[in-house]
Amino acid sequence: MMPNAEFPVARPRRLRRTASLRRMVAGTRLHPADLVLPMFVKEDVPGPQPVGSMPGVVQHSRDSLRKAAHEAAEAGVGGVILFGIPAVKDDRGSAGDDPEGIVQLAVADLRSDLGDALVVMTDTCLDEFTDHGHCGILTPEGEVDNDATLERYASVAVAQARAGSQVIAPSGMMDGQVGAIRAALDGAGFAQIPILAYSVKYASAFYGPFRDAAECAPKFGDRSAYQQDPAGPVGEALREIALDLAEGADAVMVKPALAYLDILRQVRDVVDVPVAAYQVSGEYAMVEAAAANGWIDRDRAIMESLVAIRRAGADLILTYWAIEVARRLS
Ligand code: PBG
Repeated sequence: MMPNAEFPVARPRRLRRTASLRRMVAGTRLHPADLVLPMFVKEDVPGPQPVGSMPGVVQHSRDSLRKAAHEAAEAGVGGVILFGIPAVKDDRGSAGDDPEGIVQLAVADLRSDLGDALVVMTDTCLDEFTDHGHCGILTPEGEVDNDATLERYASVAVAQARAGSQVIAPSGMMDGQVGAIRAALDGAGFAQIPILAYSVKYASAFYGPFRDAAECAPKFGDRSAYQQDPAGPVGEALREIALDLAEGADAVMVKPALAYLDILRQVRDVVDVPVAAYQVSGEYAMVEAAAANGWIDRDRAIMESLVAIRRAGADLILTYWAIEVARRLS
């Protein structure tokens, strides 16, 4: 055995011995205000509809959304981000920028209920609103047309801001989306509304359960032609970040979280804006499913994964466990 010259003077275990010592020296802390709760709201449903692949997550009705958002505020959660499921979908995602669209109505509900108790944000994309399930307008050949989609995103963002959204979060991975949305918001009198850009978003298998929750699985093909390749060059992530910042992003996001902690750390090290990480539906479902089988300790796994995301550099964490964790922290 190699002799350790520092032993017995050096004993790292000394600071691990009791819970109070461990708490005092903790280098990574979570706070409820750093958590953002993603919520689904569906048009024309009588009450909350369970999402099979995400036990504990529901598609809300307008009423149940108000109740749950109130609980989030009470728990001290920093914000909510809304996803809408419209009653009618079409090829251009018309419900996305309809002033009476489900997201716009829900935003207005929450703003009038909650005032400034938490931040009401909106995901800005088209996939929940299109009948084909892709994140943009299609060409006749079935490709997503980047520039035609930008006009739609701009219009959706303005509709969301008019309804009262306090942060616009474009998630569609079109080139130039942040700049197009910034210009549209400024032109419509919303220069003060920040953009949280999903800058680094991988074409991930971990979005599987979300596509049930938001009813937005693509009817053909997949999203690999616009979302990043998990095996793509690391520099691509940093380039996406730099472009979004140049276009006016106020904060940036890395998504998913757990499989991309290395990327998250590299982003954190080079930007001076807040960095968010999205603990996505598949990350949630894996823990819930394993815990339901008695294979892992659910509560510890949740906290450990969130601490890891924080330690890798996230200022904000989007997590479906936000209310539960916020309560546990306070
Ligand atoms: C796109 C969007 C998706 C998610 C958030 N915004 C789906 C996708 O890109 O396919 C996934 C979130 C999750 O899995 O929890 N509007």
